Amino acid sequence: MQTTKPKKTKPDVVNRQTGNSWAYSKIVREHFFKPKNLLWENPKEAKYDAQGIVGSPACGDVMRVWLTIDRKMDRIKEFKWRTFGCASAIAATSMLSVMVTEKGGLPIKKALAIRPQDIIKRLGGLPDRKIHCSVLGDKALRAALNDWFKKTEQFKRIETEGAKVIDPETMTTEADIEEAVLEGASTLEEIQKRTKVGIGFPQCIPEVEELIRFYREKYFG
Ligand code: FES
Repeated sequence: MQTTKPKKTKPDVVNRQTGNSWAYSKIVREHFFKPKNLLWENPKEAKYDAQGIVGSPACGDVMRVWLTIDRKMDRIKEFKWRTFGCASAIAATSMLSVMVTEKGGLPIKKALAIRPQDIIKRLGGLPDRKIHCSVLGDKALRAALNDWFKKTEQFKRIETEGAKVIDPETMTTEADIEEAVLEGASTLEEIQKRTKVGIGFPQCIPEVEELIRFYREKYFG
């Protein structure tokens, strides 16, 4: 009886940096198994200057970042994080936390100039289909810096990256409302405590309330 050999299939994912078929680089594995700057203690007890939380529209995973900032030097001193994302999200955020805090901490301007490709390069590459995971830490860092700018009333420095601005006074976007809801805010007052939305621009309040309903329904049913 003749047996048909199984057809050889090409690996569907290739590491662009090394050209190898699907394999995490040694650096990715190191950061995944021993992540740097993870927040171990209870975040409620920790004292941080700013925090950012983002969700991945692609997979639903969430990333949270806490920063301490040297206000005088305009520099990031500490970058702590947590996620329930996958290995790529863990390795990429661990690497980002190192990049942001090495050499005494990056000036905020330089931290904002880090691109996801810079992180991937330092990791020795990631599979294409994992890129969306690698941007979570970067997005959470930007959200935390926006939180810092808001808290310190440096509104002009807030970067909205095309997200719809609903309050031009505080540059609060739809994404800020989404993040606040993901953090557990469920009333206008709670949202305002975090974002200051609508305090100087009350015309936007009906839209804010609509967004709270929408995101509560979306994430908490
Ligand atoms: S699959 Fe969700 S963070 Fe990677």
